[in-house]
Amino acid sequence: MLRVCVCVSGGGTNLQALMDAIDSGIVTNTQIVRVISNNKNAYALQRAENKGIDAFTISPKDYDNRDLFNAAFLQCVDEAKPDLIVLAGFLVVLPPQMIQKYEGHIINIHPALIPSFCGKGYYGLRVHEAALARGVKITGATVHYVDEGTDTGPILLQKAVEVLPDDTPQALQKRVMEQAEWVILPQAVNMIANGYGKDMRNR
Ligand code: GRF
Repeated sequence: MLRVCVCVSGGGTNLQALMDAIDSGIVTNTQIVRVISNNKNAYALQRAENKGIDAFTISPKDYDNRDLFNAAFLQCVDEAKPDLIVLAGFLVVLPPQMIQKYEGHIINIHPALIPSFCGKGYYGLRVHEAALARGVKITGATVHYVDEGTDTGPILLQKAVEVLPDDTPQALQKRVMEQAEWVILPQAVNMIANGYGKDMRNR
């Protein structure tokens, strides 16, 4: 069983898609053992609790400095003994110690086709605003491994989504979620749970 720790900041629809895919057997060999949010009001926490999954809030606001937050966050992850950490709409920069310790065991979902519309400042609606401003006709989502950079790790899966003439950022965000994110995030977890990337992981 792949033990998965999911980190969230908001609504948690990607978390929901993963939980649903596990329940329906689309994702096998996988157990979500812990959900961690940096935001105590994240609806994702409620989604986890509804499923009986341990859910914790670790917020930088509750610590005097970044080092203390980083230590508490890393400890909360470590306690879950995860084989895989999934960043599902997680808006906090990971502690460098965590990236080193779990290298090859952390994935992120990004709502664009990397290397377009990614990197610093590209999160949430801003990604879709930028895609519309540039006038691209195709966008999509990417699941990638996490390294020290922002959206720079090896790409695992991508799925393209059409941009329609009258799209608003909100409409495009919704389509990218429905057609790409909620599909490829569970798919990536299922691949890893069933052996993908074993050779590139060192623990
Ligand atoms: C998604 O668009 C994800 O790609 C991005 O943040 C959003 C999270 O949405 N990184 P949700 O919390 O999963 O609903």
